[in-house]
Amino acid sequence: MPKRVITYGTFDLFHIGHVRLLHRLAGLGDHLTVCVSTDAFNEIKGKSSVIPYDQRVEILSACRYVDAVLPENDWAQKREDIRREKIDIFAMGNDWSGKFDDLGDLCEVVYLPRTEDISTTSLKTYMDALRSDQLDEIKHLIETLGEKAAAL
Ligand code: CTP
Repeated sequence: MPKRVITYGTFDLFHIGHVRLLHRLAGLGDHLTVCVSTDAFNEIKGKSSVIPYDQRVEILSACRYVDAVLPENDWAQKREDIRREKIDIFAMGNDWSGKFDDLGDLCEVVYLPRTEDISTTSLKTYMDALRSDQLDEIKHLIETLGEKAAAL
């Protein structure tokens, strides 16, 4: 019997940690469903994504490890998804270790190692730092131009 795998996440600013996780997830079975957090659900979670939901779905759908993409609208849908999609393995990165063990009565629950040193949060921090560096550069330029103008 072909094995069906499911996972959940926001997958904002799609990065190498996401690619490697999806590769590992695909290796667990024959069919991988990715449930992507909608913008409304992210708001409930107190998160906001840079890339809107429709584009995150399009990016994930274009990934060769992914066979199907569904919306994640709330915390409680997992049991229904697992039953409806006839899932054999529920899997997440190990930042979620132990959090979904209660689904073990429906299917196998697996936590996979995360890729080190990369996350959406760290990319956002990097972009913020870049922006503040650039702002400092612009401020310095304006000050220098002001001084030059005053000396004329
Ligand atoms: N993931 C991973 N390795 C990383 C980052 C994420 O394996 N370096 C996995 C997570 O464990 C999760 C999935 O990718 O199962 C989607 O995670 P998501 O929260 O969208 O990505 P993060 O980069 O962890 O985002 P954030 O920093 O906002 O938590």
